[in-house]
Amino acid sequence: MKLVVLSRNPNLYSTQRLVEAGKKRGHQVRIVDHLKCNIEIEKRKPTVFYKGEYIKDVDAIIPRIGASVTFYGTAVVRQFEMMKVFSTVESIALVRSRDKLRSLQILSRAGLGLPKTVFTNYSSDVKQIIDAVGGAPCVIKLLEGTQGLGVVLAETRKAAESVIEAFNGLKARVIVQEFIKEAKGADIRVLVVGDTVVGAMKRQAKEGEFRSNLHRGGTAQVIELSDIEENAAIRAAKAMNLSVAGVDLLQSDRGPLILEVNSSPGLEGIEKATGKDIAGAIIKHIERNAEVD
Ligand SMILES: Nc1ncnc2c1ncn2[C@@H]1O[C@H](COP(=O)(O)OP(=O)(O)OP(=O)(O)O)[C@@H](O)[C@H]1O
Ligand SMILES: [Mg+2]
Repeated sequence: MKLVVLSRNPNLYSTQRLVEAGKKRGHQVRIVDHLKCNIEIEKRKPTVFYKGEYIKDVDAIIPRIGASVTFYGTAVVRQFEMMKVFSTVESIALVRSRDKLRSLQILSRAGLGLPKTVFTNYSSDVKQIIDAVGGAPCVIKLLEGTQGLGVVLAETRKAAESVIEAFNGLKARVIVQEFIKEAKGADIRVLVVGDTVVGAMKRQAKEGEFRSNLHRGGTAQVIELSDIEENAAIRAAKAMNLSVAGVDLLQSDRGPLILEVNSSPGLEGIEKATGKDIAGAIIKHIERNAEVD
């Protein structure tokens, strides 16, 4: 098959591994920078122009679209979809997954466990918001944050009120969330491909920190999931309509709670922690699902 990895940087671990895994299974693999693609639209003839030529005869794309370029990146993915090219991530699902609030609403409708979450239009009734998530301590998250930046643990009501008011004053949108204490500074990243879990790791925050992000000094270890956890991760990916997903969950007294479903999950942490060939699993998924003509 002819595969295209949409990626801005050929040197990234995930990009390299996908190219390597594709070639190893006998496919032609090309890296295309989505930001350098021109989208040409006319009656029934969608095309993508890239580096002096039209991209032709592609069987499948693997989008690796960064959060900062979601708008243009998804437009390129959509264009390939118009050209009847299989994508490991549908453009609609990609857009949805980038909106934290919408994602939580979709997961809630699917009946998945979630930390109780409040979102308001800069409401000045800060006390009510804090009450709604069970009081302090609670977690306040910038809607646009990633890699743990903009995620604050407010230990007391006073701290929570000040932080929410400060963000409101700056017109920065936040979600306020129940703090899951029993997670003990750890979360679980589950890689779902198709209908199965292909790898899972537990990320533990460093001493004195509640955010387990590897970028914040957290450490990762392979973990054996319970059936309930495995099931929740698969259902979360399905609800978001993602056939390749990184599902983050917290272990709580009331079972697994979904934090987030990532549509371009990084492969480095999970492959190194589990020793599994996740890139290969993604290529096999394409082989099972893409139509070659
Ligand atoms: N409600 C919560 N209770 C306990 N711990 C939490 C809660 N929310 C987040 N955490 C911890 O903080 C970390 C960062 O939070 P989160 O994943 O929501 O933000 P982010 O990593 O900045 O955003 P994104 O995952 O979208 O890039 C989580 O991995 C988890 O360890
Ligand atoms: Mg996170």
